[in-house]
Amino acid sequence: DKNRVKIGLLQHLYQFVRSSSKPSLPGPPSRFLIGNMMELTHDHLPIHLTNLGQRYGSIYRLKCGKTTMVVLNSCEVIREALVKKWSDFAGRPIVSGGGRNISLGDYTEEWRAHRRLVHSALQRCCQQSLHGVIERQALHLRKVLMDYQESAVDLSEDFTVAASNVITTLAFGKEYDKTSPELQELHSCLNKIVALWGSSWISALDSFPLLRKLPNPVFARLLKEVARRDAIIKQHLNSYKAQNKINEDAITGFLLQGLDKHQSTENGELLTDIHVHMATVDLLIGGTETTAAWLNWTVQTSVYEELCRVLEERYPKYSDRHRLPVLSSLISEMLRLRPVAPLAVPHRAIRDSSIAGYFIPKNTVIIPNLFGAHHDPAVWSEPYSFKPERFQEGGGSSTRFLMPFGGGARLCLGESVAKIELFLFTAYLLRDFQFVLPQNECSLPDLRGVASVVLKIKAYKVVACPRP
Ligand code: HEM
Repeated sequence: DKNRVKIGLLQHLYQFVRSSSKPSLPGPPSRFLIGNMMELTHDHLPIHLTNLGQRYGSIYRLKCGKTTMVVLNSCEVIREALVKKWSDFAGRPIVSGGGRNISLGDYTEEWRAHRRLVHSALQRCCQQSLHGVIERQALHLRKVLMDYQESAVDLSEDFTVAASNVITTLAFGKEYDKTSPELQELHSCLNKIVALWGSSWISALDSFPLLRKLPNPVFARLLKEVARRDAIIKQHLNSYKAQNKINEDAITGFLLQGLDKHQSTENGELLTDIHVHMATVDLLIGGTETTAAWLNWTVQTSVYEELCRVLEERYPKYSDRHRLPVLSSLISEMLRLRPVAPLAVPHRAIRDSSIAGYFIPKNTVIIPNLFGAHHDPAVWSEPYSFKPERFQEGGGSSTRFLMPFGGGARLCLGESVAKIELFLFTAYLLRDFQFVLPQNECSLPDLRGVASVVLKIKAYKVVACPRP
């Protein structure tokens, strides 16, 4: 015991020496008890954190109760933390004990085995069935838009159905009609969970653990929705498993088979049905809201002419992307201006480390401000202007600074799926339709968007006019 006390003292001394030998992080003045909590309640957090970056630099700290958060605002410091020192910053600050999901699970041996298994399932389906699945949904979307017969409509729900059908087809070989009660229940539940996660009441639980002991109506609602979500997914998985023959083409089938084949991690922990359940949740949440938000943002340019010139009559394939620089640069510029996960997902330092020469103690929460990095004037000329040409010939190196999917150990698990989806959906929509504002509408929708975990555009109506 004496030895343990000595080691503890030495560790504290070591930390003190390390931290005092480095400069302390800049940041706004911290208020008694609440620290900088008010900074996090801003209605458009990515813009607010980017503005604070102009005052305090590309790395600064915010204090919230017992938690220190470090906000990273440039591509350089985000790369240093997420990619170069990935093993120091691969943790997550967990609110609800984490469960066994990938996106919010902490960095452990079990988590790595889980992520590896889901990653190979996704890679396999990208090679085998993804193209056909997206094509089918894009053609269905075309029919839905044709049926509107050029009336002014809000397309956000149709985009959500298309994106979610890609994932449910991949996950359990099933797609749903827009009016299906099963789909509506699933969407309403997932939407509420994502919105509640973005709520400052929930983030406050991390910083002020004592709040967990007080009645918190928002947290209670979150727990209720999580239970509802689990019941829905369980029902889907059970009916999938009840089929006579498990279809290995669907991700769930591959994962279930995978559990049997290499069930244990290097430390002998088992991957179980719960991991398959939570992976399904991750894919549905990660893959629906993000792609749908993207489709709502998309704008049109000379893409249509390029599609006609290069491909003539046929629809594009993902392998055509290098022959379609106008479309590819439009997608990159949209991902730069409106990264759909603008603050990524918070990371946690799993050991003492440093970023940009500043000491970062274990358990510090790291917020990669991707929105800030994408508007950094040191890297992007006229960062707030829409200039797709910056990604074309000569400006092609800009792609190096684009990081909408994060990086390192926590790189978006659905990156390949997302890239193929964004490319094909955008190409199909812009080839078949010209999107115009309704006649009585002369101004564009509010382009700042609404920022929660996902950056969405405010609801707006548009007319889809079929191309000749
Ligand atoms: C995580 C972006 C689509 C599944 C993330 C992160 C970002 C991101 C920034 C956090 C990375 C970090 O913590 O550093 C995007 C964008 C998308 C997209 C911009 C589309 C435009 C998808 C799709 C799926 C998906 C289609 C599923 C098929 C996930 C998962 C994680 C994640 C499971 C958690 C990874 C982990 O914690 O290890 N995504 N995403 N995402 N994304 Fe995506």
